[in-house]
Amino acid sequence: MAEQNIFDNETFFGGYRELRATDANYNEQLEQPAIAELLPNIYGKSVLDLGCGYGHNCIDFVKRGALNVVGIDISKKMLEVAEKESSDEKITYLNMNMTDISILAQKFDLIYSSLAFHYVDDFASFAKDMYSLLNPGGYLLFSQEHPLVTATYGGNHHYNKDEKGNYLSFTFSNYNEPGKRDTFWYVDGVEKYHRRFSDIINALCSAGFIIDTVCEPVPDTKATEKIPNILAKEQIKPSFLIIKAKKV
Ligand SMILES: C[S@@+](CC[C@H](N)C(=O)[O-])C[C@H]1O[C@@H](n2cnc3c(N)ncnc32)[C@H](O)[C@@H]1O
Repeated sequence: MAEQNIFDNETFFGGYRELRATDANYNEQLEQPAIAELLPNIYGKSVLDLGCGYGHNCIDFVKRGALNVVGIDISKKMLEVAEKESSDEKITYLNMNMTDISILAQKFDLIYSSLAFHYVDDFASFAKDMYSLLNPGGYLLFSQEHPLVTATYGGNHHYNKDEKGNYLSFTFSNYNEPGKRDTFWYVDGVEKYHRRFSDIINALCSAGFIIDTVCEPVPDTKATEKIPNILAKEQIKPSFLIIKAKKV
């Protein structure tokens, strides 16, 4: 298994739990509203949530009328929270690496993933497995860290400001060198995988997907009120990439 299970690290888990405890974060204010806009109608449909974390989206799918939902996560700690906070008879949580999904017997109408695919090593092969698991007419909808954010070795990118503290530009590097990145996020050695925008699109197309929508979200008024500087920073470069693709 190439993928790391960093969310079971005690220090990392604590830091992430704190980040998500309020709604003044990039997930709630920027990524979640944008990905929700692209959700297809899932009434009476089956949904697979990859890297489901606390299962909050799984519960949302049930509320939207999903027939059944499978939530997969590599982290036992994240799934313990999911079982406590987001349980429902229509939801099944599975503790496994999402790259092993080819073992699943069921097919799905929607494969969804929020901010987890940048932890996957071989995206080309993973895209093929996802395509096989979808019913014809089904959708893949996912968000990930934007390739401009995953690019720089060691996560050593930064914003440049003028003498008054205004954001001017973003310095990054290593864009055309896809592969593993070791970064610091609460702890040293958090492993993510950088892929160029073209690598992601080409992997999806080679697997057979038709690209429906590509979104690089920009903050709305609510987000700009909640998070200082979010608009200034996001106007320089996007933090997230969201893709909706279809199996015809
Ligand atoms: C940033 S969290 C997002 C959680 C949830 N999707 C949300 O939006 O609230 C990423 C999640 O992906 C899970 N994850 C990372 N790599 C994984 C893998 N290879 N297989 C399954 N889950 C994985 C982590 O354990 C974590 O729960």
